Amino acid sequence: MSETAQADPVPAAAPEAAPLLEVRDIGKYFGSVIALQGVSTQVAPGQVCCVLGDNGAGKSTLIKILSGVHQQDTGEYLIDGEPIRLANPRAALDRGIATVYQDLAMVPLMPIWRNFFLGSEPTKGRGPLRRLDVAKARDITRRELAGMGIDIRDPDQPVGTLSGGERQSVAIARAVHFGARVLILDEPTSALGVKQAGVVLRYIAQARDRGLAVVFITHNPHHAYPVGDRFVLLKRGRSLGDFAKSEVGLPELTRLMAGGAELEELSHELEREPQA
Ligand SMILES: Nc1ncnc2c1ncn2[C@@H]1O[C@H](COP(=O)(O)OP(=O)(O)OP(=O)(O)O)[C@@H](O)[C@H]1O
Ligand SMILES: [Mg+2]
Repeated sequence: MSETAQADPVPAAAPEAAPLLEVRDIGKYFGSVIALQGVSTQVAPGQVCCVLGDNGAGKSTLIKILSGVHQQDTGEYLIDGEPIRLANPRAALDRGIATVYQDLAMVPLMPIWRNFFLGSEPTKGRGPLRRLDVAKARDITRRELAGMGIDIRDPDQPVGTLSGGERQSVAIARAVHFGARVLILDEPTSALGVKQAGVVLRYIAQARDRGLAVVFITHNPHHAYPVGDRFVLLKRGRSLGDFAKSEVGLPELTRLMAGGAELEELSHELEREPQA
């Protein structure tokens, strides 16, 4: 070791893992509409970053930047610490960024295994004899889903017969199988009841425990808080804050989300007039 290295001690490594994805002061305009302005957050492998906000807050715009659908107009987007502009969703996928959209892009009448592969099915044979390896596809589907704790009765069952929560789970398992490092979920629990939402939250935790970085969009702080490590709150395109879990509690998160004062006002308005 050289003299200078000893004389110049390197500061201890940061306690948090290096972020896989990071946005700094990011902004996006649609004509004169400011969809997003000055938003910063990050997510590391094995962590869940929750993006919270009301309708029109800019949540989908943010994840569309992360997934290559839009490019930011201002600010920086970094992957593995390297500034980047993703030209399209394919470029994001090539970087291991998989996005599960709310409408899921599944074919209800097709079997689960077909939906699991959707064009990337395993084949056997060569040249003119090349054909789908259905047995293998079924087997992989069953195994991958079982690996996430999803027990399907029959991979030939049409996806349309699955519940909303199970369908989300198939989409998550698919992203994991195809080697995603980052999983982005746009409101996967918003249309679900309490029990089904719980099922999806469990798969989010599973993906996290497998070392994926997860970006989870929701407007429900009760869904976000138990599973999240980090919370970014959006309101009309601006950030109300980007908190680590240690910096914010569920009551505070709920208050920020609901706009406490607005809710209170509403509850007065909704009260019955006292009967004469
Ligand atoms: N392609 C677009 N062209 C014009 N305006 C857009 C476009 N996409 C989004 N916006 C505007 O940007 C703002 C943020 O929209 P965004 O879809 O990101 O909100 P959101 O938080 O996802 O809302 P929701 O909870 O309803 O899904 C809105 O005012 C919206 O009208
Ligand atoms: Mg949205």
